[in-house]
Amino acid sequence: MKGLILSGGAGTRLRPITHTSAKQLVPIANRPILFYGLDDMAAAGVTDIGIIISPLTGDEIREAVGDGSEFGVDVTWIVQDEPSGLAHCVQIARPFLGDDDFVMYLGDNMLEQGLVEFVDRFEAARRDALAPQLGEKSSKAPSAQILLARVDDPSSFGVADVDADGNVVALVEKPANPPSDLALVGIYLFDSSIHEAVAGIEPSARGELEITDAIQALLSSGHRVEHEVLTGWWIDTGKKDPLLECNRLVLDSLDRKIEGDLDASSVADGRVIIEEGATLINSTVRGPAVIGAGTVIEDSHIGPYSSIAIDCHILRSEVDNTVVLRRSTVTDIPRLTDSLVGRDTAVSRGGAMPRATRLMIGDHCHVEIE
Ligand code: DAU
Repeated sequence: MKGLILSGGAGTRLRPITHTSAKQLVPIANRPILFYGLDDMAAAGVTDIGIIISPLTGDEIREAVGDGSEFGVDVTWIVQDEPSGLAHCVQIARPFLGDDDFVMYLGDNMLEQGLVEFVDRFEAARRDALAPQLGEKSSKAPSAQILLARVDDPSSFGVADVDADGNVVALVEKPANPPSDLALVGIYLFDSSIHEAVAGIEPSARGELEITDAIQALLSSGHRVEHEVLTGWWIDTGKKDPLLECNRLVLDSLDRKIEGDLDASSVADGRVIIEEGATLINSTVRGPAVIGAGTVIEDSHIGPYSSIAIDCHILRSEVDNTVVLRRSTVTDIPRLTDSLVGRDTAVSRGGAMPRATRLMIGDHCHVEIE
């Protein structure tokens, strides 16, 4: 089985972060989201992986992933010139995929349960159908397997209609009137029939070739589409609040590791990771939290569910439930909470008179003053 990870796209919902960098590289507990998907693939024995990238952010992703050896996988890079949809990604990946079965993974999705059982189930169902054991009746092999999750706002996702017998009968992308609360999770298993289905669909109202429509085409032409309803957590990290939630869930699963330097008046309390080369001066870090290499925390308090990336400086401030990207500074801020701070950014409280809020912020920012 091959793997296809989708890391192109425009990333409009995480602007301004994604004006300059790929949303799949935004860190969760100081590791790019995309790395968790690569880990999951490798753990499921999927090591031949194509990664879709865009001309804008592709180089940055290539640099971060390298040749894949850090994850134990081989990577083939596939450049998509325009974000023309998830099914378009399958189309341009055809030379890489050939007629092999594959797992497709949206590079901004994260799920708790990993891929091992999901992949095993599909492979076993296909094996049993294609070569039934002695005495067993041959059944039709599934052409696709999808993952579903119950959500509060189904109209933001692909949605499945499942009948009383538990069969998926229809799929629709971001419907105004969702037929159920079962959203399509961004992880799919396909055999080569998907290519014919993709070839037969037209662009949707938003101008994209939708994978949801291609799976609907499989259903309509009588193919078997299996599904599983997720029990663990799943997050489409494409917006700020889900991203912070994902950061909380991952931090909750990490163990304490103190490799940086703490002076005599600093405390690392609970499940805290202080990476090698990080420094705490007269500061407290209360876990779960992670402090990146080269970062200095000075006269500050870092509260639960904070991930501070490498080479940052937090001075005379209190921070909690916040993700700070690399090389940023936070100075004299009494309480920074529920925030996502981009790279090379300065947040500070100035003493200049007259007292005022002075900003230099980019396009598509969101600033909430206390
Ligand atoms: O997260 C699950 C949802 O993902 C599903 O419920 C929907 O059915 C599915 O269409 C998809 O919806 P999104 O609107 O969230 O997809 P998004 O545009 O965010 O793209 C998902 C990933 O695929 C993201 O990492 C960017 C990448 N991508 C996207 C497009 C449109 C590409 O690589 N190329 C593209 O052309």
